[in-house]
Amino acid sequence: MNILITGGCGYTGTILTQELIDLGHNVVVVDTQWFGNFLKKNKKLKIIKADIRDYKKIPLKNIDTIVHLANIANDPGVELNQKLSWEVNVLATNKLIEKAIENNVKHFIFASSGSVYGIKKEREVTEELSLLPISTYNKTKMIAERLIKSYENQIRFHCIRPATVCGFSPRMRLDVSVNMFVYQALSKGEITVFGGNQIRPNIHIKDLTNIYKYFIENPDLPIGFYNAGFENLKIIDIAKKVKQFIPTKIKIKKNNNDPRSYRQSSKKLLSIGFKNNYCVEDAILEIKEKFESKKLKASDKHYTVKWMKKIGL
Ligand SMILES: NC(=O)c1ccc[n+]([C@@H]2O[C@H](COP(=O)([O-])OP(=O)(O)OC[C@H]3O[C@@H](n4cnc5c(N)ncnc54)[C@H](O)[C@@H]3O)[C@@H](O)[C@H]2O)c1
Repeated sequence: MNILITGGCGYTGTILTQELIDLGHNVVVVDTQWFGNFLKKNKKLKIIKADIRDYKKIPLKNIDTIVHLANIANDPGVELNQKLSWEVNVLATNKLIEKAIENNVKHFIFASSGSVYGIKKEREVTEELSLLPISTYNKTKMIAERLIKSYENQIRFHCIRPATVCGFSPRMRLDVSVNMFVYQALSKGEITVFGGNQIRPNIHIKDLTNIYKYFIENPDLPIGFYNAGFENLKIIDIAKKVKQFIPTKIKIKKNNNDPRSYRQSSKKLLSIGFKNNYCVEDAILEIKEKFESKKLKASDKHYTVKWMKKIGL
């Protein structure tokens, strides 16, 4: 298959691109490379260093499937530059799907976010519940989803709503909870937890890339929205899991300005035959191993908003 991945040099994209090449697919990556490029050269891979807002640079001829990951990818990043975020996360997404249809691309997969639901009192957050996004980041995701759905008669689409992702990637993110706690424990011997009782869903990066592959290989699965998170954990319990493997203190701070607490249910994804294989413990152990073997070194690049400020975004 010919697959185009926007954001293919990112945390998720780097793993997904490599796995698709290993499966024998031809992959085109379009990425600004704001956080670098860790993809290995391969004759099945074409990398285009470009901004998706410059849609003329996106080659869509003969592409079967688009996996659209390129976004300003967290709350503080979006707050830092809201104009850029609306342009990339919403306007460029709309243009991309229009151009995909014009070029006869058959399938569009979008990385939305489990945070589109906002705060929910229901114990199980399923796809049937209403979306009440809180942050601007969450709002850009909801609006992008609605734009994509408006083309449902012209292209098959699957919007994946990932929980917070954990695990190692050559383009590493240390601003996501599990990864951040592991790194704090390893580098400082102390984890700082804000609040702690809020429950959040988690997903291992390899389960997430397996989900994208599952939809790529099965484009006829029912179109629509799919939650993707398998472990609903209290933040304090994530810190305690880290402590099981890495000696560390846990410092609890009372002021918690992020009130979201919810259990994401991925029953719908499981009902279409997807099986998850990894857990938070796997992520903890693999990050520990990379740190100890000096393959994971401190860098501001691992913190999205810190790095965006540094490169003038
Ligand atoms: N990591 C998570 O916990 C998580 C959870 C839910 C949803 N998501 C979503 O998954 C997707 C991938 O996230 P990630 O964690 O890999 O983030 P990431 O920041 O590592 O990757 C995003 C990539 O997109 C590129 N990019 C950004 N804007 C671009 C533009 N205008 N043109 C071209 N390239 C651009 C960046 O250079 C980067 O390589 C994002 O849409 C994110 O919102 C991530």
